[in-house]
Amino acid sequence: MQSRESLPSWQKLKRHAQVMEQQHMNDLFAGDSQRFNKFSIQLPSMLLDYSKNLITEETVSHLIELAKACDIESWREKMFQGERINFTEDRAVLHTALRNRSTTSFILDGKNITKQVEQALNKMKNFSEQVRQGKWLGYSGKRITDVVSIGVGGSNLGPQMVTEALKQYSDNSLNVHYVSNVDGTQIADVLRPLNPESVLFIVSSKTFTTIETMTNAHTAVKWLTASSFDDTAVAKHFVAVSANKANAMALGIEADNIFDMWDWVGGRFSLWSAIGLPIALDLGFEKFIELLEGADEIDKHFCQAPLEQNAPVLLALLSLWNCTFLGAQSQAILPYDQTLHMLSAYMQQAEMESNGKSVSWDGAEIDYSTVPTIWGEVGINGQHAFYQYLHQSNNVVPADFIGSVESVTPVQGHHETLMANFFAQTQALMQGVNEQQVRADLKAKGRNEDYINKVSPHKVHKGNRPTNTILMKRISPHAIGSLIAIYEHKIFVQGIILQICSFDQWGVELGKGLANKIAKELQNNSINIEHDSSTLELIKYYQWVKNETVNQ
Ligand code: F6P
Repeated sequence: MQSRESLPSWQKLKRHAQVMEQQHMNDLFAGDSQRFNKFSIQLPSMLLDYSKNLITEETVSHLIELAKACDIESWREKMFQGERINFTEDRAVLHTALRNRSTTSFILDGKNITKQVEQALNKMKNFSEQVRQGKWLGYSGKRITDVVSIGVGGSNLGPQMVTEALKQYSDNSLNVHYVSNVDGTQIADVLRPLNPESVLFIVSSKTFTTIETMTNAHTAVKWLTASSFDDTAVAKHFVAVSANKANAMALGIEADNIFDMWDWVGGRFSLWSAIGLPIALDLGFEKFIELLEGADEIDKHFCQAPLEQNAPVLLALLSLWNCTFLGAQSQAILPYDQTLHMLSAYMQQAEMESNGKSVSWDGAEIDYSTVPTIWGEVGINGQHAFYQYLHQSNNVVPADFIGSVESVTPVQGHHETLMANFFAQTQALMQGVNEQQVRADLKAKGRNEDYINKVSPHKVHKGNRPTNTILMKRISPHAIGSLIAIYEHKIFVQGIILQICSFDQWGVELGKGLANKIAKELQNNSINIEHDSSTLELIKYYQWVKNETVNQ
């Protein structure tokens, strides 16, 4: 297989990076009054400005040449046509079929999966309406007031991030809670104030074998049946979303109360399926459809817009440029909207579980830097925590700033202050302040020469820090659907360019398997498998302290 590094466009980018490293964005802006127009895209729900990257038209043209040489367009077609591009697991990657709102059908292995999707959506609609309207009753005849969604990773992050983002759209007919951590503290906290007679549990697990989710589900069953003194209560208070019907039924969940998942939907791309049930329960089914419509709009943009104006393609290429060619090691996701406070956690799984790998399609080691560490926090809180590092450390951290023009919770004066910071930060990160400016400023403030000499170096900001700005019109189900779909396709394009299989997660399996074996040792207070001396002594210490406590 031809390595990406041997492509002429890759080599051009490598040479070009050396030239660009000597440039400052201030000069690029000063030299081109059209820079914003050239390097921004308007989409129906948002504006993407990527002009504050260390790029020129030449950079973009080399990046597009690379994208073409990597056959992005034909890979995109393969994904949408259901080819088994998740080749290590021999699966198609068709989460786009879940949000297809047009009349065209998705066919997989000769089967019209659009029909299956429609049926699943109808089942979600009927169920969510019944629960929301108080027609679904618990074992004692009470209506459901609280929903507890149990799941982890892709079976949790998407729905939880979206329900948080769209809280203002909920009519509060139900209280939706999430349990993902196997640390009993979380489920205990969630269950403490709830009345078992009016709680509905959704156990979301594609495999229905994930130990954390299974442990939480069994605890929930015990909690419910302890109050109802009746095992059949499970049928009225539990539904499952899973591809493993047998295991879900073994928990006492009725076949009719199991919502399908398919192997052509990866966990971290699954919020568009019945994994999104908590969203539909919280917001109502119509809003869930609006979410799908927003994503579908981006699917069309991704398939139809030329690469040069294609938002996901450009975001992927910019990430590659900043990380692989300019050497950035991490990327910050910085939402300036409280509703998006879980976005960086969501993006961590989406990008790092997909592309945090170092072996190419043919099994060869990749020896260039692939995707960055994704991290972040709500922007304003970040400003008072780690932005110092963003502005002045000698590690450059490219950042995506995401904000909205209109607040969903207008409180007089707040949004302007918030957005003033949003605009100020990207300008400051890009422009910086040079020594001359610092000295002039201190002089104007009446500082003496000694003070100026001492303090000036500390106040210099080199600037030239790359950022993308996504300015949404308003946070809405449609806009959130679009935002997530942009990032999903960005991740897909990154994977193709880097020759990484984005849809498996073997790195998670290794630790999972070992944890299952150690769990037996902890349960039986024994050591049964071989450990390195560090792990062995840690486990022994754990068991010793536990035994001491028990014997006291
Ligand atoms: O974190 C690893 C992972 O396999 C994710 O990809 C998946 O979303 C999550 O675990 C949960 O898996 P399941 O839905 O099968 O419980």
